[in-house]
Amino acid sequence: MSRFYQYILKPVLFRFDPEKIHHFSTELAERPIIADAIRKIRPLPEDQISLLNQQLGDLTFTNPLGLAAGFDKNARLHEFCDALGFGYREVGSITAKPSPGNPKPRLFRIPDDQGLVNRMGLNNDGVDIISLRVSESRDFPAVNIAKTHDPAIQGKQAVEDYVYSFRKLAQVSRYITLNISCPNTEEGKTFETPESLRELLSAIQRERNDSTPPVFIKFSADLAESEVFELLQIAEDHDINGYVCCNTSTDRTSLQTNAGLLQNIGNGGISGRPVHQKSCRMLKFIRQHIGESGILIGVGGIDSFETAKASLASGADLLQLYTGLVYKGPGLVREILNSFILEMEQYGMSSFREYISYLRQNQLFPEKNRPGN
Ligand SMILES: Cc1cc2nc3c(=O)[nH]c(=O)nc-3n(C[C@H](O)[C@H](O)[C@H](O)COP(=O)(O)O)c2cc1C
Repeated sequence: MSRFYQYILKPVLFRFDPEKIHHFSTELAERPIIADAIRKIRPLPEDQISLLNQQLGDLTFTNPLGLAAGFDKNARLHEFCDALGFGYREVGSITAKPSPGNPKPRLFRIPDDQGLVNRMGLNNDGVDIISLRVSESRDFPAVNIAKTHDPAIQGKQAVEDYVYSFRKLAQVSRYITLNISCPNTEEGKTFETPESLRELLSAIQRERNDSTPPVFIKFSADLAESEVFELLQIAEDHDINGYVCCNTSTDRTSLQTNAGLLQNIGNGGISGRPVHQKSCRMLKFIRQHIGESGILIGVGGIDSFETAKASLASGADLLQLYTGLVYKGPGLVREILNSFILEMEQYGMSSFREYISYLRQNQLFPEKNRPGN
């Protein structure tokens, strides 16, 4: 599948507008016949797939690789994600009110960086409709919520807007990620300052009880360590269960893409390869800070077995990807999962937690900790 995608399908798809291709391929992907066909191509080995299971607190994952937020904004791709091999999907971002997002064009490829630039602006069908789809999904998806894209919604109203979505989704979602880091709204990242985050988390905390799911926070790729540190302390005071590292970046300093092309594209968040190191750096920083007490999801530039391992070695328990699918094709998911299985078998490991802890130690002391030494 990967070679077919790389040499035949991708050159054709890349001739067309990226958002049109996304729309076209997700319309196709919604059809059960497509999911059935994908399931027949090189399925994951049934007897070995259980090696990738993980229990993280009350959450069970059949494998660590999930679909990142933004791809399935409206909760329509359950069968497709399952057929590709994803262990879970994060639906959204979902907002209290439906929104058409920013004017088009708003999604661009930057192949010289194996990345995308997007300023979608939280286009989605709104929580009233999406929560029904989520509740009907057999895979019990995770969801990602954000404030409605409307600069008129500010202050207390902005908090209420978030809380409305939280309430609607609390009984039907595997976990809820608070997206406080969307770079593409007119009003900016409304909850990434300490005071506003504290206010939001206090309101969310009042909604939580034994039957509500774990709550994660998704950070921007561009936060300085001192900022992450301050936000983590607030999060810890409000019983946040984990962190998603990270959202897209607005930093263009180290891109290979021609400056003129970038200027023509205009504003937007960068995803793909340019955010991988930023994501790994943040994972390491947060893991050192929280120890083993929280769940970390690594997302940003995961497009191969090597980048997936680097994110786990940096402290992630789970992984997500989006841009890798565009550049490497849908076969990427099984390619990474199969490589995990092969390497675990080679090292004689029988649990994914054991594999993760080996990768983390190996990152610190590469030679000493090789299995067999
Ligand atoms: C077109 C596009 C739309 C996105 N929309 C969202 C979104 O609605 N909410 C969100 O939290 N992240 C969104 N993201 C960010 C991704 O979830 C992810 O954090 C980021 O792209 C880095 O991962 P990647 O390099 O694997 O793409 C979007 C990314 C892209 C490319």
